[in-house]
Amino acid sequence: MKYVDVAGARVSAVGLGTWQFGSTEWGYGPEYSEREAHAIVQRALDVGITLFDTAEIYGFGRSERILGKALEGRRDEAFIASKIFPVLPVAPVVLQRARGSIRRLGIDALDLYQLHQPNPVVPLSATMPAFAQLLDEGVVRHVGVSNYALARWEAAEEALGRPVLSNQVRYNLVDRRPEMDLLPWAQASDRLIIAYSPLAQGLLSARYDEHHRPSGIVRTASPAFHPENLRRAAPMLAVLREVAEAHHATPSQIALAWLIRRPNVVVIPGASSVAQVEVNAAAADIELTDDEDRALVAASDAFHPLAATSVLPDLIRERVSGFLARVTGGSGGTGAGPASS
Ligand SMILES: NC(=O)c1ccc[n+]([C@@H]2O[C@H](COP(=O)([O-])OP(=O)(O)OC[C@H]3O[C@@H](n4cnc5c(N)ncnc54)[C@H](OP(=O)(O)O)[C@@H]3O)[C@@H](O)[C@H]2O)c1
Repeated sequence: MKYVDVAGARVSAVGLGTWQFGSTEWGYGPEYSEREAHAIVQRALDVGITLFDTAEIYGFGRSERILGKALEGRRDEAFIASKIFPVLPVAPVVLQRARGSIRRLGIDALDLYQLHQPNPVVPLSATMPAFAQLLDEGVVRHVGVSNYALARWEAAEEALGRPVLSNQVRYNLVDRRPEMDLLPWAQASDRLIIAYSPLAQGLLSARYDEHHRPSGIVRTASPAFHPENLRRAAPMLAVLREVAEAHHATPSQIALAWLIRRPNVVVIPGASSVAQVEVNAAAADIELTDDEDRALVAASDAFHPLAATSVLPDLIRERVSGFLARVTGGSGGTGAGPASS
């Protein structure tokens, strides 16, 4: 495992995302949340993962509870990041919600407390004093944001009067927008980009195509997994496979290695099995060449998925027919069911 040191924090380059824990929308079922999730966390620690990302909104607190329980007795090995869902992020609410996350996780302090989204109405001047208080009280060690544009990230720092360590944003070979300004700024300012959906929710594993699509509302409702977009992704996935073969690796590992090759970037892939967390951790040891990096960027540039607005009617039609098939006892749905690697 590789570790990244930024602004006084040290985290594993490959972390673990835990939205999947206790969340029905991934469709992994109760066995996953009750047993597999625990084993995933234990194995993650064994293979050197320290960064664990959760949020109060994931499974409405269940993800935090499952993660906290799985880390019992090994808390010191982990860098725990949670997030507040900022519906009304004024000071008393922030303080109360931070304590809720800490209680559910069963810990004394959060290593990183992040604002999950910008709130367009509540000004940062009303939110950040509570984050400063949490830092002063030692119940939060670092503050972060998520889904923030650069100007807002800088404004958050100004309102906090201290560094805002990280911005957690979607960043992967399908969506490289953070490269425009967030990443250069993070690299120049000793800040961290936490790349979420680093595998584009499994698309970059190259295991799915128009005939074999994942189940679970997160992905059946996602334009990325629309059959036409899966068809359009095929050439990019072919390049991923080719690079993977050269490294005796998997496409997922190459997708992660490509991201963490960039300074000040760490990834937090979710995992549906212990095997996946092992494979993802091992991606930290893969050294891509500059040529391979360029080939992946070129493949990413050449991928032009249909816009969400074009595929939305199809996705809605699919959901309605799936629902009708369920209530009338038909087979319904188009998903292929969770894959087991
Ligand atoms: N801040 C935000 O707004 C935000 C938004 C989204 C996510 N996040 C965070 O980021 C984390 C990761 O993002 P994500 O879960 O959306 O997407 P992701 O990490 O890109 O994809 C996770 C999925 O990819 C598949 N996968 C993982 N490892 C694999 C491997 N080695 N081989 C093959 N398939 C593999 C698994 O699904 P299957 O096996 O079922 O295919 C897994 O559930 C979340 O858990 C959450 O903590 C944050």
